[in-house]
Amino acid sequence: MKKNILVTGAAGFIGSAISKRLIATGYSVVSIDNLSTGEQGNIPEGVEFYQGDCQNHKIYETIPKKKYDAIFHIAGQSSGEISFDDPSYDLRTNAESTLHLLKFAHKMNCTRFIYAGTMSVYGKKPDEPVKENVQLKPQSFYGVGKVASEHYMRLFEPYGIKSTSLRLFNVYGPGQNMGNLRQGMVSIFMAQMLENHHIHIKGSKDRYRDFVYIDDVVDAFMACLDSKSSYGQAINIGSGKKTTVGELIKKMTDLYPKQVTVEYSGSTSGDIHGIYADISYATQVLNFNPKTELEHGLNQMLDWALNERN
Ligand SMILES: NC(=O)c1ccc[n+]([C@@H]2O[C@H](COP(=O)([O-])OP(=O)(O)OC[C@H]3O[C@@H](n4cnc5c(N)ncnc54)[C@H](O)[C@@H]3O)[C@@H](O)[C@H]2O)c1
Repeated sequence: MKKNILVTGAAGFIGSAISKRLIATGYSVVSIDNLSTGEQGNIPEGVEFYQGDCQNHKIYETIPKKKYDAIFHIAGQSSGEISFDDPSYDLRTNAESTLHLLKFAHKMNCTRFIYAGTMSVYGKKPDEPVKENVQLKPQSFYGVGKVASEHYMRLFEPYGIKSTSLRLFNVYGPGQNMGNLRQGMVSIFMAQMLENHHIHIKGSKDRYRDFVYIDDVVDAFMACLDSKSSYGQAINIGSGKKTTVGELIKKMTDLYPKQVTVEYSGSTSGDIHGIYADISYATQVLNFNPKTELEHGLNQMLDWALNERN
């Protein structure tokens, strides 16, 4: 019999890519998505889709009462900057949703819970690869909600729910929402480049991040399904490499055949100067080995943006 997985957020960038891989691997996927930032057209064929809010308990009465082998909780408001517009909404959509899903997991005797955590839980850190065990000091309402979700997961451990938070760094690749100019560094810059041949960057070119390609992220989620040693853990998922904004822009504009102008001015609420991942724990626990070099990943994304997106 096919195994059933509940994936929240299958209309979004990461949730759709995970759902697609699960279906291709032979799983049956049910998804909840409120289509706030996702699009129905992104939902892979074969997903049993229910439109609704994860923070609204009524949705859990609507979805099928199957034996779920795992829940991948991916849905969420995913921008630190946007979390400053309405912190209460951010708390509901990120933290309260996690609480409801954990209650649902408990009710349905689903013992595996895998969460899309974030590097935004760390806050300002020294210029060295960040490890999972450092003190968490989030700088945005978004980061605070994600920390709260990790604590909720821990509180459900005594009830037999084995959770893992994959703390994602800057995920990019085909399928990323290019219409939202406040979410996703690569997609924001690439959208501006294609639209205006001009990129306006809020903040300095010396800031640095860890850009990890979507297929590598999906590999990590799939590996997590089978990894008992990841139970109860938070695990960094990045490339393990430091890339400055200036380097990213250079790689991106070098791939694009037209002339692009670049302007640096202003700043973004809650933005940190720099962060990149120590991925040794992911390598140890998930056998994680990110394969996609930034140039190749950007090239794939640019191809998709130019040819397949419309
Ligand atoms: N993209 C990244 O670089 C990144 C980095 C770290 C963490 N994450 C986390 O990964 C997850 C997915 O991010 P993404 O980049 O795919 O974003 P996305 O906006 O493309 O996808 C999020 C999906 O969740 C849905 N959604 C949002 N709130 C919901 C709610 N309350 N109930 C039901 N559906 C809801 C949206 O409609 C959308 O389809 C988020 O939880 C985000 O915090 C993303």
